[in-house]
Amino acid sequence: MTAKIIIESLIKIYGKKHSAALKLFREGKTRDDILKSTGNVLGLADVSLEIGKGELFVVMGLSGSGKSTLVRCINRLVSPTSGHIYIDGEDVAHVDEKRMREIRLNKISMVFQRFGLFPHKTVRENVEYGLKVRGAETIYRRNKALETLEVVGLEKWANYKPTSLSGGMQQRVGLARALATDADILLMDEAFSALDPLTRGEMQDELLRLQKELHKTIVFISHDMQEGLKLGDRIAVMKDGAIVQLGSPEELVTNPKNDYIKAFTEEVNSAQVIRVGSVISKTASLIIGQDSVSSGLKQMLSHNLQLMYVVDDDNRPVGLVKRQYLEESIKKGEEDIMTIMETDFPVVDSSTTLEGIFYHYKRGFPLAVVNEKKEFQGMVEAVDVLTTLGQANKNFDETNS
Ligand SMILES: Nc1ncnc2c1ncn2[C@@H]1O[C@H](COP(=O)(O)OP(=O)(O)OP(=O)(O)O)[C@@H](O)[C@H]1O
Ligand SMILES: [Mg+2]
Repeated sequence: MTAKIIIESLIKIYGKKHSAALKLFREGKTRDDILKSTGNVLGLADVSLEIGKGELFVVMGLSGSGKSTLVRCINRLVSPTSGHIYIDGEDVAHVDEKRMREIRLNKISMVFQRFGLFPHKTVRENVEYGLKVRGAETIYRRNKALETLEVVGLEKWANYKPTSLSGGMQQRVGLARALATDADILLMDEAFSALDPLTRGEMQDELLRLQKELHKTIVFISHDMQEGLKLGDRIAVMKDGAIVQLGSPEELVTNPKNDYIKAFTEEVNSAQVIRVGSVISKTASLIIGQDSVSSGLKQMLSHNLQLMYVVDDDNRPVGLVKRQYLEESIKKGEEDIMTIMETDFPVVDSSTTLEGIFYHYKRGFPLAVVNEKKEFQGMVEAVDVLTTLGQANKNFDETNS
């Protein structure tokens, strides 16, 4: 992972008695203590994290946990009290206002919850706005706005006022306005929270689709675990200004660090979150043209398997063989794997969620899991899936009992 944003020991104290509050914090006093003695709010309590280039990084947590403060420190709408925020290696916590304005203009775009559109301007003018404040030429701006509206599927609405559009469409305009600037960093603070559930789901899909093409570095704040798990490459869960747990969606669901995280993940259906790639336990395979029936059987015995996948020279699965058939072939003196290979087998991409794979088990074969290049990653048996889900559910039950 190449880091795009590095946050180091970030502290934010809201209020006038900074140094007194900071001193108390360093002495180990809690947020409540600090509030009581100084009247100052500890917004961020020593946060350190790295966000990768092209990563969709989600920040979650209850109201008041410091999510917005964290994101606003990145574009310095909020000034940090202490610590560092490196963007492409430059510490934006310590650059002057003039440089900060340039960074905001060139590198960072923000998408707001309530769209923040101008009602009296057309959709196109709204999208142009971000470019206008950046001093772009009229023609360039116009073309770029239309181009970006096409990306979000709203080109036909360019000359309408935002008020004639649905909530979801308005949020698309907000997204287009942020994308039109070509900034590599997108900050999205509860960007989809005002949308109805159906539209919200569509916008999430849209964002994932766009991100596949655009590879922006996105910091996405959400209250909603289901949303966070669906969107996030990684998720940071915050409480009282600090990060409680940072990990992949699977890690949070299968291995919640404490009750606070469990409470978040409880409502989530693990089958919709855990990806089959993370369930693989058996990675061995036979290679066509290299392995014979007897070498195949040897490997199967050493791995204690009843069945193995066979791959070609490019490591793509081409079939599977059962131990029973290998044993029978050996008795007959037959050495060619090809003749006994089953070629109708289930293949799934490693990013498929467990919910999406069950129906592939119809024929009773374990699934061959492949990566984006269709290369064999390993096989997954139904029992592996059920064990994983059982474990995830057990974590939930322990919280409830
Ligand atoms: N301008 C401010 N002045 C004083 N305190 C503030 C200010 N902005 C935020 N706070 C306090 O800092 C803490 C963190 O607020 P923040 O807005 O970052 O939380 P949040 O996680 O974004 O919450 P929400 O989910 O409600 O948006 C809260 O206790 C809040 O009251
Ligand atoms: Mg907030």
